[in-house]
Amino acid sequence: MRMRRKKNLDSRLEKCSHLRLKEEKVSSLSEVFGNDNPVYMEIGCGKGKFVEQIALRNPDINFIAVEMVSNVCVSAMELVEAAELKNVRFLIANAENIGEIFAEQSISRIYLNFSCPYPKRRYTKHRLTHERFLKQYRKILIPYGEIHLKTDKKEFFEFSLNSFCECGFTLKNICFDLHSSDFEGNIVTEYEQRFASQGLPIYRVEAVNDPRLRE
Ligand SMILES: C[S@@+](CC[C@H](N)C(=O)[O-])C[C@H]1O[C@@H](n2cnc3c(N)ncnc32)[C@H](O)[C@@H]1O
Repeated sequence: MRMRRKKNLDSRLEKCSHLRLKEEKVSSLSEVFGNDNPVYMEIGCGKGKFVEQIALRNPDINFIAVEMVSNVCVSAMELVEAAELKNVRFLIANAENIGEIFAEQSISRIYLNFSCPYPKRRYTKHRLTHERFLKQYRKILIPYGEIHLKTDKKEFFEFSLNSFCECGFTLKNICFDLHSSDFEGNIVTEYEQRFASQGLPIYRVEAVNDPRLRE
């Protein structure tokens, strides 16, 4: 379903432009944030509830939220602007080239929350856990940096577990029903709220970028 272009989109984006990274090479994240704190990234941030909440709870961590749809990302930027957060920046771009934009080993953790599952076989390569994306993540993640993934889609979860294992990641804390587990500190995203209220189980895994493993 195509979303209608938001009213005044350009002027709203302009108002938040100080929060936005240009889609070029970002050579120094220390310069961007004005400190040397670790940088976590969320890919496919949607309307930004997750990044806003996690950044509020973790002022000593910097966050980059990546979203390819500006119409959606503008809501996330406005949320972060309203909360007066200084530790969040946005990149409006397709994550497929993320390894060319950020320096090697500059990101400590990546969050993939309810990524589009692209269930049809011919769209497999658009999945954010396809090897074409994982190769990019491997470049920018520090050794033993982690990817934290949550989804309600079992097939996408299975696909992702296999893809992680084939691309140099080891797995930990695999969970098949997050909301019935004893996991503490979960930040519920917009999509998570919707799916959990329908009684669907939420799957979660942490994938560790293991430098000892070859792709
Ligand atoms: C299903 S929504 C989930 C939004 C949010 N993470 C949540 O849990 O509520 C997935 C989001 O990922 C974005 N997305 C999908 N593929 C992407 C890509 N290759 N690069 C950047 N963003 C992407 C979509 O535009 C969409 O906003």
